Amino acid sequence: MAILHENYSLKKYNTFGIEAKANYFIEFDTIDEIQSFLKVHPLNNITFHILGGGSNILFAGDYEGIIIHPNIKGIEIVEENEDSVLVKAGANEDWDEFVDWAVTREYGGIENLSHIPGVVGAVPVQNIGAYGVEACQVIEKLDAISIESNKQVEFENFHCEFDYRNSVFKKEYKNLFIITHVYFRLSKKPEFNLEYGAIQTELKNYSEVSLKNIREVIIKIRESKLPDPKVIGNAGSFFKNPIVETRFAEKLLAKFPDCPNYELDNTNIKLAAGWMIEQCGWKGKQVGQAGVHKDQALVLVNLGNAKGVEVLQLANDIKKSVLFKYGVKLEMEVNAI
Ligand code: EPU
Repeated sequence: MAILHENYSLKKYNTFGIEAKANYFIEFDTIDEIQSFLKVHPLNNITFHILGGGSNILFAGDYEGIIIHPNIKGIEIVEENEDSVLVKAGANEDWDEFVDWAVTREYGGIENLSHIPGVVGAVPVQNIGAYGVEACQVIEKLDAISIESNKQVEFENFHCEFDYRNSVFKKEYKNLFIITHVYFRLSKKPEFNLEYGAIQTELKNYSEVSLKNIREVIIKIRESKLPDPKVIGNAGSFFKNPIVETRFAEKLLAKFPDCPNYELDNTNIKLAAGWMIEQCGWKGKQVGQAGVHKDQALVLVNLGNAKGVEVLQLANDIKKSVLFKYGVKLEMEVNAI
């Protein structure tokens, strides 16, 4: 049954571990519960936010409105052929447990996305990615409820307008749909993606390349660089890696040849924001209770009792210094509300 809480602490619901309160907080276990609620409370003229695992959010203060938390579970194979399976997963399944489920059954495609905090429903929203793989490569479709019409809608992959850490659900459809299930096409004959140098190096310590070993290596790499949100509050990469025009990048790289960069196509190059932030002297810095992680400058951390605004202030100062030194505007990956 849907439970409505009033004046509810969000500390447990954001991996930054920021103390903030929501006027109202409601959890739904089923699609029926969502639809019954929307029938009575159509949410027009009400401020609301759909919250998944809270691993990509920064609460800048208390939330004056309703937080909607879909608590839909379940993992099932809905289609199978010689080469692949189509797996339907509920929005509130823990992402890494889902990856583990797939790897254990030797279904390939998401092993490189091991150990990313968050839940299944948030995966398409920001098109999570790591180590040469993006979620959009395996998402076949998803089910959502339209807040406007209160009807179930199916989105095929191409409807989602996936892009680097982006989708239609962060743009024109922001806050218009509640994602309930995501369908992943996983391979029974996986092709391993080992383009990331550190994975290849680590795999040399194993007798074979397998989904299980790749997952193990990735967990090891992530644990060595990224802080565990259960120990130190954070939301993964705070900024996106900036994508700039090749002409601009060439000038910049002539001046700063060490800046890691990846050619995306003929006209665009992605630069490493973490490197630039480190070069500006921010790595390991603390400002009040907010800080920059000591091993990965792209990650901002809550050192104890940071307020959302403290983290935002630090983020703005970092943005200013990167703009000043490199002429590059950093964009936040984390959603600040
Ligand atoms: N670098 C530095 N200093 C730093 C951080 C990075 O010099 O403090 C350099 C690294 O040496 C490397 C380059 O920058 O040459 C890229 O660093 P890394 O491989 O650690 O990855 P990233 O670009 O910083 C991205 C994703 C991560 C993902 C990794 C691995 C974004 C915004 N972040 O980080 O995703 O795990 O690649 O694929 O695209 C996340 O989104 O929350 C996240 C953690």
